[in-house]
Amino acid sequence: MSTIATPLAPQLDPYALAAELSGKHLIGGRLVPSASGKTFDVVNPAKGEVMGRAGYGEAADVDAAVAAAVGAGVAWKALPARERGRLVAECGRLLTAHTEELARLVALETGKALRTESRVEAGVLADAFTFFGGLGGELKGETVPFNPKMLTLTVREPLGVVGAIIPWNVPMMLMALKIAPALVAGNTVVVKSAEEAPFAVLRACQIMAQVLPAGVLNILSGFGPECGAPLVAHPKVAKVTFTGSVETGRIVSRTAADKLIPVTLELGGKSPMIVMGDADLNQAVAGAITGMRFTRQGQSCTAASRIFVHDSLHDAFVTALKAKVDAMVMGDPLDERTDIGTIVSPQQFDRVQGYIAEGKRTPGATAHECSALPTDAALAQGLYVRPVIFTGMTNDSRLAREEIFGPVTCVIRFTDYEDVIAQANDSEFGLAATIWTRDLKTALDATQRLQAGLVQVNQNLVVQPNLSYGGVKSSGLGKEATLEAMLEHFTHKKTIMLNMA
Ligand code: NAI
Ligand code: MG
Repeated sequence: MSTIATPLAPQLDPYALAAELSGKHLIGGRLVPSASGKTFDVVNPAKGEVMGRAGYGEAADVDAAVAAAVGAGVAWKALPARERGRLVAECGRLLTAHTEELARLVALETGKALRTESRVEAGVLADAFTFFGGLGGELKGETVPFNPKMLTLTVREPLGVVGAIIPWNVPMMLMALKIAPALVAGNTVVVKSAEEAPFAVLRACQIMAQVLPAGVLNILSGFGPECGAPLVAHPKVAKVTFTGSVETGRIVSRTAADKLIPVTLELGGKSPMIVMGDADLNQAVAGAITGMRFTRQGQSCTAASRIFVHDSLHDAFVTALKAKVDAMVMGDPLDERTDIGTIVSPQQFDRVQGYIAEGKRTPGATAHECSALPTDAALAQGLYVRPVIFTGMTNDSRLAREEIFGPVTCVIRFTDYEDVIAQANDSEFGLAATIWTRDLKTALDATQRLQAGLVQVNQNLVVQPNLSYGGVKSSGLGKEATLEAMLEHFTHKKTIMLNMA
C-alpha cells in the first residue's frame, strides 16, 4: 500500500488538467515554470482550439533538470536494486489508478480516439512500470573463470543521467519503455516531451513523483532545437535514448558521437505485410487494420504501410479491406463511438495531404478513400483525414518508400514469392514485417529472410513490454522493452578482479 499522505486524485476533465499543468516542467520533484517564464500553445487537433500552454524549456531549464538528476543519482544508485524496482512497480500501481484520466488527456492533446487508442496506451504505460519494477533482482553480474587465484566478477552499474527524447504518437508508452528500465537500473532521468503532446506525460511524471525521490525523474517540455539539443549536448548526460524521425535521430546521434556517449534510436519504418495466396483472407484483412494502425490515423512507426498481396487474393483483399475501413467511425476523440480521431498537428496534416495528392497524381495508381469525415460542426476545424488505400503503386514509388505517418497504405500486387521477399527487403527501413500464409515452410523461410526487428506470422500484435522492440537499417539502433534491453542499454558491465594469491 502507498504511504502517500494525500495522493493526487484522478481528474477526469482533461481541460482542467491541462490548465493545471500549463506552463510547468517537473524538476526536482516539483512543478516549476520555465526559467524564462515563456510558454507555448498546445492545440487540441480535433477542434483547433488552444487547450493549454506548455512550459517553453530551454538550456537553463535543461541545466536545472540535469542538476536535479545528478543530485538525486547518488542515493538512487545506492538503493538496493529490488527497492528501486519496488518503487517503480508502485509507479505502475499509481498510474493504473489514473488510467482513465491519462487516456482522456492524451486523447485531447493528440487527437487519438479514447476507446480504440488512448485507453490502450494508458494501460501499456502502467504495465511497463509494473513489468520493469519486477526486474530489479535481474541486474546480476557474473563470476568469470579467469584464474583460480583471481576472483573475477562483473557487476552491472548504471550509466548516470539518461536523457530521453520522445515523440507525440504514443508519448506515454514510448516514455515508459525508456524510463522504467532506466530507473530500475539505477539511472536518473530527464525526459524531453514532444511539443505536440506535453501534458499527459507530464501528468504521468507528476503522479510518479509521489513515490520516487525528488530529482530521480524530471520532465521538460519544449522544442527540439531549444530544449532537446541542449539536453543531448549536456556534459552530465551520459546516455541518450530517442524515438522519432530518422532525420532528428541522425542529429542526436552526431552530438552523442562527439561526446562519446551511447545512444539508443527508435526511428521510422515502412513495414511490409506479405499476404500469400493461401492466406486466410478475413484474418489478413483484420491484421491489416491493426497493422496499419488505422485507429491511430496510421501514426505509427510500425504501420503496415506496404501490403503485398498475391495476385489471386488481391482484388478480394482490397474490397474487404475497404469495406472494413469504411465501417470505421471518424469523430471526436473523446466520444466512445469514435474509432478514428485526428492527425496530431497542422504540420503532419499538410505532410500527409501532400503524400495523398502525390499518390493521386501517380500514373497507374488508384486512391480508395474510406470512411467519412465527421459532420459535427464542432469538429469543422479538426485535422481529419480520410484513410486512403492506394492500389496500382509499385514498391519504387515515393509513397512506398517514405514513411508517411498517416492513414495511407499501399497495396501492391505480386505473383512470385522470391520477388516479394526481395521487394519487402528493398527499403531503407527494417522495423517490423508480417507474413500471412497457411504453409509452414513459407512462414519459416520468410521469418528468416525478412530484414526487420520483429517478424510475425498470421498476426500483427502491437508493441508491449517483454517483446524486444527495435529495428535494423535506418529504423534504428538498439532494442527496447525487455530485460536484455535494460541490461544492454541502461547499464555498463564493470569487471572486478581480486588477487587471491
Ligand atoms: P522529430 O523526430 O522531429 O521529433 C521527435 C522528438 O525529437 C520531439 O520531442 C522533438 O522535439 C525532438 N527533436 C526535434 N529536433 C531535435 C533536435 N535537434 N535535438 C533533439 N531533439 C529534437 O519528429 P516530428 O517532427 O514530430 O515528426 C516528423 C516525422 O518523424 C513523422 O512524420 C514521422 O515520419 C517520424 N516520426 C517517427 C516516430 C516513431 O515512432 N519512430 C515518432 C514521431 C515521428
Ligand atoms: Mg521534427
